[in-house]
Amino acid sequence: MSDHSVPNEAVRRRAVASIIRFTAGTPLAPPRYERQLLARYQVGELSIDQVLALLDTSTYHVFYRSQAAPGLALPDIEALVDWSRHYNAQHQLTGLLLYSSEQFVQVVEGEEAVVRALFARIQQDTRHQQVVTLSEGPGPQRWFAEWSMAWGLVEPLVLEQVLGAVQTQATVPELITDPHLQTLIRAFHLVDPELARFPARRPPRSRLPKPALGGVW
Ligand SMILES: Cc1cc2nc3c(=O)[nH]c(=O)nc-3n(C[C@H](O)[C@H](O)[C@H](O)COP(=O)(O)O)c2cc1C
Repeated sequence: MSDHSVPNEAVRRRAVASIIRFTAGTPLAPPRYERQLLARYQVGELSIDQVLALLDTSTYHVFYRSQAAPGLALPDIEALVDWSRHYNAQHQLTGLLLYSSEQFVQVVEGEEAVVRALFARIQQDTRHQQVVTLSEGPGPQRWFAEWSMAWGLVEPLVLEQVLGAVQTQATVPELITDPHLQTLIRAFHLVDPELARFPARRPPRSRLPKPALGGVW
């Protein structure tokens, strides 16, 4: 006699598909990273236990800035992003890469050993230099679960504002309207919260950067 309390694989797959369909576009929809895992379950690439184990894994992140190698051009960066998106999606890594006048800023998040192994390779990569870690460690959640590697070209003043906000203030500057940049600021307040109470000095109005990006998110 079959045990009706335990759904078989086909029923479970249909239930997962229905949940994804019914929650699409609502706040209940799982983030993209989780949908990718569920899609791999649907095609039989992962078992439900593997999906649950991957969802359970606590998140580790690296947040750094670096200087692009001389001569690195936009097509080189686009090729790098293509590679990264593919690799990261395959290894349950998520994050964001910003580029602005020869500066990179990147967040990579995922399982600790996987993030550390990738960061060791990134630090050796000759396409950039002067890699400075701004923050590294475990965290309670993924901040960029929607993106295997969101990337954007930002104006230098915007990047300055974002890094300034991360390092000196507790609130998102009004000028930063892009959700990726807002998430970055919310995710990382690197200063002592006591210091963060003192707001950073605003640049004069004439120097205010345009909040829009030359974005390629
Ligand atoms: C700024 C920058 C960011 C990078 N981000 C990633 C990334 O998110 N994922 C990834 O797989 N490779 C990324 N790479 C590429 C890696 O450094 C490395 O080339 C890749 O992991 C392949 O490793 P290998 O060259 O040792 O074979 C990045 C490189 C640079 C310069």
